[in-house]
Amino acid sequence: MALELLLAVDGRDAYANLLLPRLIAQHHLAGRDAALATELSYGTLRGRGSYDAVLGICCDRDLSTLDPAVREVLRLGTHQLLATRIQPHAAVATSVNLIKEHAGQRPAGFVNAILRRVATRDMAGWLEIAAPAWDADPLGHFAVRFSHPRWIAEAFAAALGESSGAGLGPADLTETAAVLAADNDRPAVQLCAMPGLADQQELVAAGCEPARWSPFGAYLRDGDPAAVRAVAEGRAGVQDEASQLAAVALTRVPVDGPDGSWLDVCAGPGGKARLLAGLAARAGARLTAAEIREHRARLVAAAVQPAGSCRVVVADGTRPPWRPAAFDRVIADVPCSGLGALRRRPEARWRRTAADIAAIGGLQRGLLRTALDAARPGGVIAYVTCSPHLAETRDVLSDVLSERDDVAVLDAPAVLAEVPRLRCEDSGQYAQFWPHRHGTDAIFLALFRRR
Ligand SMILES: C[S@@+](CC[C@H](N)C(=O)[O-])C[C@H]1O[C@@H](n2cnc3c(N)ncnc32)[C@H](O)[C@@H]1O
Repeated sequence: MALELLLAVDGRDAYANLLLPRLIAQHHLAGRDAALATELSYGTLRGRGSYDAVLGICCDRDLSTLDPAVREVLRLGTHQLLATRIQPHAAVATSVNLIKEHAGQRPAGFVNAILRRVATRDMAGWLEIAAPAWDADPLGHFAVRFSHPRWIAEAFAAALGESSGAGLGPADLTETAAVLAADNDRPAVQLCAMPGLADQQELVAAGCEPARWSPFGAYLRDGDPAAVRAVAEGRAGVQDEASQLAAVALTRVPVDGPDGSWLDVCAGPGGKARLLAGLAARAGARLTAAEIREHRARLVAAAVQPAGSCRVVVADGTRPPWRPAAFDRVIADVPCSGLGALRRRPEARWRRTAADIAAIGGLQRGLLRTALDAARPGGVIAYVTCSPHLAETRDVLSDVLSERDDVAVLDAPAVLAEVPRLRCEDSGQYAQFWPHRHGTDAIFLALFRRR
C-alpha cells in the first residue's frame, strides 16, 4: 500500500492525505497495519530529501533516471533502515520481494545491493558524509538533515530573523533547525467548536484535550474526528488552533458604530467562515462569505449552514460584486504557498517551488486591496496566510500599504496577548505563529483599521 501511495504521489501528483484513507479502506487495513502503512508512506515522503542524499552516495546512477518503482522501493527501504525499528534484514528482504512483484526479477539484485550499502551506517553516520559540513554550511546541512528543500530552509531562517550577517554558524540557526524538525512531527488533530452550537466542554467530554489558547479549540490525540458527535453533526470542525485564533482576533478589535456586517473575501473550504458565522450569530451580525470556485463555495455553505447567519457568494474577490466600504469587519485569508502547514502534507515541500511564491504575489496583493476597500472607515481588516514566507507576508503588506494613506496598522500580537512569542522579528505589529513555538501551523496575521 505504501508503494502504491508513493507511486501515485510521484507519478500522478496525488495528495497523500486524500489518497491514504482510500487506500487503507481498499486494502482492508486496520489497527496496527493501518498505522504501519501510514508511517511507512508518510515517513518516506517526508524524509525524501535525506534519503535521496544517502542513495546518491550508494547508487552510481542518478536517481531521476531510475524506473519510478525502483526509485520508490529504494526510498521506502531506506526509510525503514534509517528511521524505523524494522530489522535491517527484513527491510531489505521485503523491499526485494516488493520490486520483484512490481518489476520482475531484473531490478531485484540492484535493489538488494543498494539497500545493503545503505544498511552499513545509521542516519547520523550517513549525515556526516551525505550533508554539507554543519559549520561550513549550516543551512545546507539542516536542509539535508531535516529533509527540506534548501530554499524553504532559507525562507524560514529569513522569517525567523536568523539569516542576516556573514559567517552564520549552527548556533545562529537554532530556531530554524527547530521549525524544520517540527515539520517532521505528526501534528495532533485540532478541532474547533462552532460558537452557539457546541463548546470546548462538549469536545473535552468526547475525549479531547482543551486547546491551550483558543476558547473554542480542542486537541484530538487519537482516533477519527468524524467519530466526535459535534463534528459529525457539523457543530464543530477540524481546524488548526492558529487559524481559529486569526479569526477570533478579527472579532476582538473594538469598532465604533455599527458592527453588523462582516466579510470573508476568500472563504473556501470554510474553516474560518464556520467560526466567524457562529461568532456573528452570537453578536447579531451577518457574515458574507465569498469564494471564487463553485465547488469550494458549496463546502463553505455546508460549513456555515448550522449558524444560519451567513450569505455565501461565488465571486472573484479581485472584482468584487459588493459595494466598497460596506463592511465593519473583513478577513482576507489569501491563497498562499502553504509552507506553514508542511506537517500536514508530507509531499508538499517537494511540490512547491520558489517560483510559485512569486506567481501568487499579484493575487495576494489584489485580494488585500479588495479587503481594505471593503471595510468602512473605522472598520477592521485581517490579512492571513498559512505561510511565514516574507514574500507572502511582509512584502505584500509593505507594497499595498505604500499605495495608500487610509490604513492604520494595528498591533496584532497585543490582540492575542495570551499567546507568547507571536511578534514578527522585524515588523513587530504583525503576528507569526510557528509549529516549534506554538504547536500550530505557521499562520501569519496582520490587522488594520481603515481610516
Ligand atoms: C487559503 S484558502 C482560504 C481558507 C479559508 N479561509 C478557511 O479557513 O478554510 C484561499 C481560498 O481562496 C480562494 N480564492 C482564490 N482566488 C480567489 C479570488 N480571486 N477570489 C475569491 N477567492 C479566491 C481559493 O479557492 C481558496 O479556497
